[in-house]
Amino acid sequence: MLWVKSLHIVFIASWFAGLFYLPRIFVNLAMVPEGSNAERERLLLMSRKLLRFTTVLAVPALIFGLWLFLGYGIGKGAGWMHAKLAVVALAIGYHHACNRLLTKFSANRNTRSHRWYRWFNEVPVLLLLAATVLVVVKPF
Ligand code: HEM
Repeated sequence: MLWVKSLHIVFIASWFAGLFYLPRIFVNLAMVPEGSNAERERLLLMSRKLLRFTTVLAVPALIFGLWLFLGYGIGKGAGWMHAKLAVVALAIGYHHACNRLLTKFSANRNTRSHRWYRWFNEVPVLLLLAATVLVVVKPF
């Protein structure tokens, strides 16, 4: 079980590293001056590669979590686990939102400011904090 939990934590950390960095690139993309196509294409290429990599890392992160929950029965019927699964759903939603925003940037249809993306970039910090406190402290 401890091997599964170790792999869960490693892939969670890797998944969230991508969720922390991708919106940072969006901040830069939202600040690219009109006509700077080379810079825009470079940032778009970085975003696409990072999103693909982050998606690949999310899958084992969730599989090992489900293995702990469904396989070993850890947290079954517990309030903290239900709350944690709600946080997980928000994290998957955030990942999906990054995919949608990148599609808009690629089509040059972004309407949001770099300031908006700076706030957007803080969301995964709160999600990681909430999930970690729920699973370690188990407050309810
Ligand atoms: C389908 C999604 C997930 C499931 C079913 C799941 C389930 C679990 C379970 C059952 C444990 C073991 C808890 C224990 O031994 O007390 C665990 C540990 C952990 N999970 Fe998840 N998890 C999921 C996603 C996540 C996410 C998205 C994060 C972070 C954002 C996360 C962070 C952690 C951490 C930090 C631990 C280690 C806690 C410890 O060592 O006490 N998990 N997870």
